[in-house]
Amino acid sequence: MEALAVFGGSPRVSTSSLQSASATIIRSGNGSLSYTQNLTLSTRHLSAFHGSSSLFLCSPSLSHPKRRARKIRPNIFLPTLIASMEDVEETYIMVKPDGVQRGLVGEIISRLEKKGFKLTGLKLFQCPQELAEEHYKDLQAKPFFPKLIQYITSGPVVCMAWEGVGVVASARKLIGATNPLQAEPGTIRGDLAVQTGRNVVHGSDSPENGKREIEALWTMMN
Ligand code: RTP
Ligand code: MG
Repeated sequence: MEALAVFGGSPRVSTSSLQSASATIIRSGNGSLSYTQNLTLSTRHLSAFHGSSSLFLCSPSLSHPKRRARKIRPNIFLPTLIASMEDVEETYIMVKPDGVQRGLVGEIISRLEKKGFKLTGLKLFQCPQELAEEHYKDLQAKPFFPKLIQYITSGPVVCMAWEGVGVVASARKLIGATNPLQAEPGTIRGDLAVQTGRNVVHGSDSPENGKREIEALWTMMN
């Protein structure tokens, strides 16, 4: 039996009565995962976590032998922990020139971070015409193609690689419909844009394109 992760920890300094909690994920001999949780009432108070030492600590000695093992429950909410246990995808997200000029980079990063995805690469970049044409080559025959290339090369873009479980489809949902007037309120385009030709942000439309855009086109490799 092997302890995979321990999270939570004892509070250090206090201002009110709080509970402290810790949990351990255990892999048994047959490979199945179980989850133990220890809750203790404490009169001490929480001002800050201890350093990173108690987060994601891998130590079999920290699993208490008398603790009752239970099945994993969905109340394990740390996205990075979930991502470490399942297959992750990568997606290429690009803040387009209007998003950079309007100061929306932080807002867009924040929405993806709050959702639980992980930023793995980032750069400010002036996109050359050839790269814009290659990136949008599937749209070459569209009447708006020249304007699209002009738009993407009109100023610096912010190129980002993001990783997470289901990140490709989820990021597209967070971004919203291509036409911002049809994008749902709550989405980035629905909240922050009004024109299709100035729709603030790009997101890969498939895991394959995510990989291609990160590795071959925009070279966002770690
Ligand atoms: P993106 O690739 O930039 O994430 O956008 P998308 O998947 O939502 O939409 P797509 O069909 O791939 O179109 C790429 C970008 O082209 C511009 N566009 N203009 N009718 C028009 O004028 C028109 N249609 C599309 C948009 O900037 C769109 O995001
Ligand atoms: Mg697209």
